[in-house]
Amino acid sequence: MQNNKRPETMERITTPELAQAFIAEQIAAIKAQVGDKKVLLALSGGVDSSVVAALLIRAIGKNLACVHVNHGLLRKGEPEQVIQVFRHEMDANLVYVDAVDRFLDKLAGVSEPEQKRKIIGAEFIRVFEEEARKLEGIRFLAQGTIYPDILESGPVKAHHNVGGLPDDLQFELVEPLKFLFKDEVRVVGHELGLPDSMVYRQPFPGPGLGVRCVGAITRDRLEAVRESDAILREEFANAGLEGKVWQYFTIVPDFKTVGVKNNVRCFEWPVVLRAVNTRDAMTATVEDVPFALLQKITSRITAEVPGVNRVLFDLTPKPTGTIEWE
Ligand code: XMP
Repeated sequence: MQNNKRPETMERITTPELAQAFIAEQIAAIKAQVGDKKVLLALSGGVDSSVVAALLIRAIGKNLACVHVNHGLLRKGEPEQVIQVFRHEMDANLVYVDAVDRFLDKLAGVSEPEQKRKIIGAEFIRVFEEEARKLEGIRFLAQGTIYPDILESGPVKAHHNVGGLPDDLQFELVEPLKFLFKDEVRVVGHELGLPDSMVYRQPFPGPGLGVRCVGAITRDRLEAVRESDAILREEFANAGLEGKVWQYFTIVPDFKTVGVKNNVRCFEWPVVLRAVNTRDAMTATVEDVPFALLQKITSRITAEVPGVNRVLFDLTPKPTGTIEWE
């Protein structure tokens, strides 16, 4: 039985020095655990899996095989950043899987939110399993489990926990972050040389943009979610709100409204902006976004995102609205 309780003597990692000590300790522990054997990791590009990857690359180099599955529901620029940081800058053994068509074909016509989540989760395991079978001689599976995942027995991060793999593909787990809280993971990630845009990024759900493309996902409306999200993030960053607002993103519902563009009537989607603050995601308040910034984002989205003629701002706290729309 693995020990899953953070040692009481463990100091909170708040400084670069403490992070460096943690890194040295974990590198030794990883080497002792895996020796010269190969380790597999599902690398989503989120904070936790990225920090695990950077730590294992330091410890065992190319004996770590990172698998990055692009399910088509990632934010603009994310797969490219994973390739840039891990393959080009850290010289990692990175397997990039373009599974966009597979996921979008499976999701076509499915509008029920939990059904969408199930399809994304199940397909992810299937793709990962296929890749795991291609790579021979792997005995260990690294995971970005962090302490809150252990404490909260409730919903676990589907994209980190590749539980559900078949019996003949059971690995010994390597979980170097399992006693860390999120802020500690960020300090460690920073010390490992990961870019701030990766280490300090806002939470992003496992099903990704899939739950923000409300109802049955279509490729054109999914692009509207991705492009409007990129504009919102860019404008929040320019306004100094990055890292200050807990979570902000766009949603594109599956209905159209009448508008006018270049003196011509158009029948297009609205984009909804959501920006919230919370401590634990159980309740949330709405960020008081300056009106001028909302206007700027609105003009950019309506001018730059194809198929969109209207922008709305979601004023609903949680409760009664959840943070995501699905
Ligand atoms: P809600 O919408 O329930 O979201 O208020 C609370 C937090 O959880 C995130 N979220 C998810 N994360 N898989 C995830 O990994 C999911 O299916 C999922 N649904 C919601 C949401 O982004 C917010 O941070």
